[in-house]
Amino acid sequence: MQKFCHFASKNIYKWPNIIDPSAVISVNAVLGTGIFVGKTAIVNADVRIGNCSIINTGAIVEHECDIGAFTHISVNTTLCGQVAVGDYSFIGAGSTVIQGIKIGSNVIIGAGSVVLRDVEDGEIAVGVIK
Ligand SMILES: CC(C)(COP(=O)(O)OP(=O)(O)OC[C@H]1O[C@@H](n2cnc3c(N)ncnc32)[C@H](O)[C@@H]1OP(=O)(O)O)[C@@H](O)C(=O)NCCC(=O)NCCS
Repeated sequence: MQKFCHFASKNIYKWPNIIDPSAVISVNAVLGTGIFVGKTAIVNADVRIGNCSIINTGAIVEHECDIGAFTHISVNTTLCGQVAVGDYSFIGAGSTVIQGIKIGSNVIIGAGSVVLRDVEDGEIAVGVIK
């Protein structure tokens, strides 16, 4: 699946971005292609979002966050400033990631989590992650 996604995005398709009109995207944010931003989501200044990622309904991506490709920031999640998330990662609904945290690639963070430390590639973590 990952190989297909990369092949499709690099070689065949120029995916459009789908951004709900109620979302607020900073003029300083840098968006790739194939991105979905849901209703009332906020993408703040100097955020970078990689190709084919999802910023779902009501999510807040604060200043200078760096989101990889094919990553899903679920509904009502808050990424505080300068958080980095790798590729193919999933941050569950209603989670909070405090400022400056680095989350790797292929990570799953369970719904309602509070992330207080860095998370390694491939890790699955839930709850208060410290
Ligand atoms: C993390 C998650 C992927 C794990 O799913 P799973 O592998 O099927 O895990 P299980 O449901 O078998 O749960 C395993 C254990 O983890 C616990 N657990 C699962 N998710 C949890 C969570 N988010 N927070 C705290 N504990 C959790 C379960 O209670 C269970 O504990 P137990 O072994 O003591 O009974 C899933 O629970 C989850 O949070 N998904 C996110 C859903 C979501 O955000 N959707 C948004 C769509 S926009």
